[in-house]
Amino acid sequence: MINEEAILNPPFVNKNTPLQKVNDTFITERGINLYMKREDLNHPELSGNKWHKLKYNLLEAKKAGHTTLLTFGGAYSNHIYATASAGKLFGLKTIGIIRGEEHLPLNPTLSFATECGMEIHYVDRKTYRNKTDEKFIDELHKKFGSFYLIPEGGTNHLAVKGAGEIINSVKVKFDRIFCACGTGGTIAGLIAGLNGKARATGVSVLKGGGFLADSVKELLNSTGNAERDNWEILLDYHFGGYAKINKELVEFVKRFVEINDTPIEPIYTGKMLFAIYDLIKRDEIKENETVIALHTGGLQGLAGMESKMKETLA
Ligand SMILES: Cc1ncc(COP(=O)(O)O)c(C=O)c1O
Repeated sequence: MINEEAILNPPFVNKNTPLQKVNDTFITERGINLYMKREDLNHPELSGNKWHKLKYNLLEAKKAGHTTLLTFGGAYSNHIYATASAGKLFGLKTIGIIRGEEHLPLNPTLSFATECGMEIHYVDRKTYRNKTDEKFIDELHKKFGSFYLIPEGGTNHLAVKGAGEIINSVKVKFDRIFCACGTGGTIAGLIAGLNGKARATGVSVLKGGGFLADSVKELLNSTGNAERDNWEILLDYHFGGYAKINKELVEFVKRFVEINDTPIEPIYTGKMLFAIYDLIKRDEIKENETVIALHTGGLQGLAGMESKMKETLA
């Protein structure tokens, strides 16, 4: 028998992460209440949105008797890092199919993953594009045997279910909630969790984020959620593309970290907060509104960004 409670409510995950008021005069002078939901603090490694997206997948894997998880990601992927951690914490073997070639020494993300016991396999970029093709998955089964497949970024219907639970953990009444979007799984969960109340805004961190709205609709449909119009995806805050940064963004992130004594990175949460500040400047977020910015973690990625951030400021 599977102990569901032990998987869904493990003692090492903090379910009551802080809701932290952003005390920046830029915000408070305008009479806006901005809070950060600090999901980065739910676990040191299996952190942020990753825990929420993985929890029901872990349960499903265990229920089906799987002993191995296989998933996909880039060499700096937060999802790879979190899946490796989950495997270690929940006693599952993990296999990471990594886009690109091996670079030694391993970067901090992959060295952590291997320390957790993840088996790393590199595939070239062209092959990696087949990550959702049945034929390719069959080949992986032939090579690795039986496994529970978690898609890239951890996004599937079970991720939507888990991410939806974030809404109930926000204990103030709010008008809007924001999160960064890569695959759209997290924002789909937030929209589902809102159930028509308040507004959800996703900030694409990718240049070609045009597909995100359709992906979100598909995820909502496939999880039996009603069509809603209380959400949107912003496409203008990617700063040139995934993990691309410029001086303006890095200065913004540095200022935010100093004022709020809260760590953020420029790949996801930094871009989302930049978007919120910009909407405030444009008066699209108004006096008396209460806004939640979801801190989705990803801080492990900072290790791979520091020199790039310094160069940007030089
Ligand atoms: C730190 C962080 N925030 C936000 C996201 C975006 O989540 P999603 O892929 O569910 O849109 C990701 C992953 O892609 C992430 O690693």
